[in-house]
Amino acid sequence: MRPVLRILKRIWFLNFVRRIAYASTYYNKKYAQILKWGFTSREDTNFTYELTDGSISYLAHTVAAVTKKDYQTILAYFYEAMNNIELKEHILRETEKSPLGRYADKEIRFGRRLGWYTFVRIMKPKVVVETGIDKGLGSVLLCSALLKNKEEGFEGRYYGTDINPEAGYLLQGKYKEVGEVLYGDSIESLKKFKQHIDLFINDSDHSADYEYQEYVTIEPLMSDKTVILGDNSNCTDKLAKYSAATGRSFIYFKEEPKNHWYPGAGIGISYK
Ligand SMILES: C[S@@+](CC[C@H](N)C(=O)[O-])C[C@H]1O[C@@H](n2cnc3c(N)ncnc32)[C@H](O)[C@@H]1O
Repeated sequence: MRPVLRILKRIWFLNFVRRIAYASTYYNKKYAQILKWGFTSREDTNFTYELTDGSISYLAHTVAAVTKKDYQTILAYFYEAMNNIELKEHILRETEKSPLGRYADKEIRFGRRLGWYTFVRIMKPKVVVETGIDKGLGSVLLCSALLKNKEEGFEGRYYGTDINPEAGYLLQGKYKEVGEVLYGDSIESLKKFKQHIDLFINDSDHSADYEYQEYVTIEPLMSDKTVILGDNSNCTDKLAKYSAATGRSFIYFKEEPKNHWYPGAGIGISYK
């Protein structure tokens, strides 16, 4: 050990300062990112960002493990979504048109939703339900996957739910031909829903009990093939608990945002 370090370590206060300074190096970069975001972004909730290369790779491996498809196939679906210029232009146009668009950025970043997209491309579901749609970024991405499936001969329909009557402004044009929004409380909408659900994405009221209730409500509409994606699994263990209680497998993918201060959310995946 170097003599200076030896002295620093022996004196409690100097050692304290040295340790705190070292620990803070893990977070200092975040303050620079927060400042940059303060100037360059217009978002104040439901933040969007790209994923790091490593996170994209982990997400691809996770989806591959659940769907039993190969890694390269999954990656190809990620790039299909990321390179969908028509979809990106549509999102920009609708953002410009909507008064709520002032809270959205001009860069389109799907983050973990790339995983949602890929489940639709692989499963070819007839019915996809997403509870909680906000602007409708997930909605149009999921509908774009359904449109690609349709080109390949597999029809499917998207249902989003939201309690906010202004939610879902991105779901317009050709994307709306394969999708619709059920406005009102999500659980009330799910109680009235009568179709079998192939893919269910929970992203509405983020309280733990509400999340669990959504899973219980759709139980009669599920089969062993139904996949549940939980957007709340970074905050609660409700999907893990629901999976254990109903004999389902559960895996959690933790996303890592690229160049963003937000620590990231994840995807809880429940399947048989
Ligand atoms: C995190 S945002 C959804 C983000 C969206 N899934 C996406 O991909 O960008 C949560 C949404 O849930 C809605 N919400 C909250 N409580 C709800 C409830 N009880 N029923 C239906 N929607 C609800 C909010 O209005 C909000 O738009």
